[in-house]
Amino acid sequence: MKMKSKEAAKFIQEKLKVEPSVGLILGSGLGILADEIENPTVISYEDVPHFPVSTVSGHKGQLVIGQLEGRQVIAMQGRFHYYEGYDMKQVTFPVRVMKDIGVETLFVTNAAGGINESFEAGNLMLITDHINNMGDNPLTGPNEEDFGPRFPDMSEAYDRALINHAEQSADRLGLTIRKGVYVGNSGPAYETAAEVRMLRILGGDAVGMSTVPEVTVANHAGIRVLGISCISNMAAGILDQPLTHDEVIETTSRVREDFLGFVKELLRTLPA
Ligand code: 6GU
Repeated sequence: MKMKSKEAAKFIQEKLKVEPSVGLILGSGLGILADEIENPTVISYEDVPHFPVSTVSGHKGQLVIGQLEGRQVIAMQGRFHYYEGYDMKQVTFPVRVMKDIGVETLFVTNAAGGINESFEAGNLMLITDHINNMGDNPLTGPNEEDFGPRFPDMSEAYDRALINHAEQSADRLGLTIRKGVYVGNSGPAYETAAEVRMLRILGGDAVGMSTVPEVTVANHAGIRVLGISCISNMAAGILDQPLTHDEVIETTSRVREDFLGFVKELLRTLPA
């Protein structure tokens, strides 16, 4: 594994003049942020040795590396989801490649359903913690000692200083921002109303089908993480309407400008 990620990292680094220090994983409908990266080096996932290949429409499946708000970034435009049939090691492989490239800070974004009844579609939520409800963990099997310990600490899976920084950034922009616990479910079916009630009792504020694997592997490797959920819809049983992927796409396009401005402000003012 270390060998494979090293080969992928070497392939990418050979195309770069500078080393990115911030990684961006861009969720459903949020990939347009990568279009704003300056002097971009664009690499299709299918060209990177050992990279899985993206299948879902609406996900481009490429790395975009360059400058954003004066920072050197590497963005994943489209991610690998567990529900697509990739295993946890495949889902998280790009995070290890980022580590090998020199990434120290990772912004993970997603579209998620609101569980907290005070939320509404279109809200942005800073992830303060997560619940792994996926029934799997990317760190099973022999430990990759080069990356981190057998039993990694997850007590501050989402970096407190980054959360503070994000709250201050939102303030400066006059942007209302929520905070809460993200539940990672395997999908691909959305939750039932009963499951949503259960997840609320368990302490969840939002639910999605991603993020938890990548954040687990990032923590293992000592990468600090900021997580941002775009609440694209309320989860089942809260509003009297069915859930559709169309609503997810529609809402994320509506809050796109807020999201873009927010992440750019985060980068612009991120301590070096
Ligand atoms: Cl309601 N559930 C899950 N699991 N993922 C979502 C969602 C809901 N809304 C957007 N993504």
